[in-house]
Amino acid sequence: MASTLIINIGQLVTNDSSHDGTKLGLIKDAALLIEDGVIAWAGSNADAPTHHIKTTIDAEGMCVLPGYVDSHTHMIFAGDRSNEFRARMLGESYTAGGIASTVEKTRKASDELLLAHAKFLAAEAHSGGTTTLEIKSGYGLSVNDERRCLEIASQITEETTFLGAHVVPLEYKDSPKDYVDLVCGEMLNVAAPFAKWIDVFCDKGAFAVDDARRILKAGIAKGLLPRIHANQLQEGQGVLLGVELDAASVDHVSHLSEIDIEALSTSKTVATLLPGAEFSTRSVYPDVRPLLEASITVALASDCNPGSSYTTSMAFIIAMAVREMHFSPEQAVWSATMGGAKALRRNDIGHLVEGARADFQILNAPSYIHLAYRPGVNLVEQVWRNGLQLI
Ligand code: NIG
Ligand code: FE
Repeated sequence: MASTLIINIGQLVTNDSSHDGTKLGLIKDAALLIEDGVIAWAGSNADAPTHHIKTTIDAEGMCVLPGYVDSHTHMIFAGDRSNEFRARMLGESYTAGGIASTVEKTRKASDELLLAHAKFLAAEAHSGGTTTLEIKSGYGLSVNDERRCLEIASQITEETTFLGAHVVPLEYKDSPKDYVDLVCGEMLNVAAPFAKWIDVFCDKGAFAVDDARRILKAGIAKGLLPRIHANQLQEGQGVLLGVELDAASVDHVSHLSEIDIEALSTSKTVATLLPGAEFSTRSVYPDVRPLLEASITVALASDCNPGSSYTTSMAFIIAMAVREMHFSPEQAVWSATMGGAKALRRNDIGHLVEGARADFQILNAPSYIHLAYRPGVNLVEQVWRNGLQLI
């Protein structure tokens, strides 16, 4: 059996509350044993097993935590929209209108170029500590382009999401219902073999709640699992629809009513907050406290996309969540790891418990607090996935 032992971990974040009664399940002066790609044991350095160890890594007092589970990205696209970002920073407001320009460039790009670009972004995410990525389509918006975007995404991750209902493409501007028919019919048929999830952008300038319901139900009938972009730009019915359909996650949720919070609190649906979008669109950050007070499970993700959040850095997301959205450092780290796993309905990732995938990072810092305390600094020393060192 190929065993690796990490010793002299100054602070180990397990997300297993049985260790210390807190959400992060901290162990001071810890060790971690990995066997065949999974966690075999976590505990005190003094109790670390000594037999049958093939490799020993000395963490020299650094902090070890689970790899980030980035449960919301749009990494399959071509081109960038830096000029649109610049205009916003000079006072323009964000509308979903810019998506059309990315669609135009994505349609023109070859499969090879789209794959190479997505791999580049995935590698960037890994170097920042991310070990699981969800990737959506949504910049193809034709039958063939959505299919090939998902086929490319499925070469990078098993967490692929069909977002043919991102916006109505320009050629359907005058007949949006025909586009909804296409998404629910032919487009879904060719996308489904490459997708695990189905998503709809249910918001101002995108899809109304009745169309979103029809599209998500069509996906569910094809065996896809629902998630939804909801209440990013304004309050609406998207969150309630997500709860109605037992969506794994409602994402963005920057504008929530008391009814939305009540509905989420009695559901299994996770609220995924995406502060990169507020940063990049100069919008007001939502406050996480009402969600936590209502015992709602909260995830944090990057929303990596060329329009509203062009970052892969989960450490940056954590820093924003702490500084701007009233997350405690503990809650932010949990939401970026275990919260993301819950948003993908996964039990095998996001925590360092016996039997979980050995996906973790070693930080060049003594504590997870440094993630928010030292913003903009890449603290990642090593990244391991499936028990193998990636970085
Ligand atoms: O999640 N909200 C919708 N979609 C993306 C933005 C897409 C874009 O502007 O290109 C998001 O923020
Ligand atoms: Fe998004």
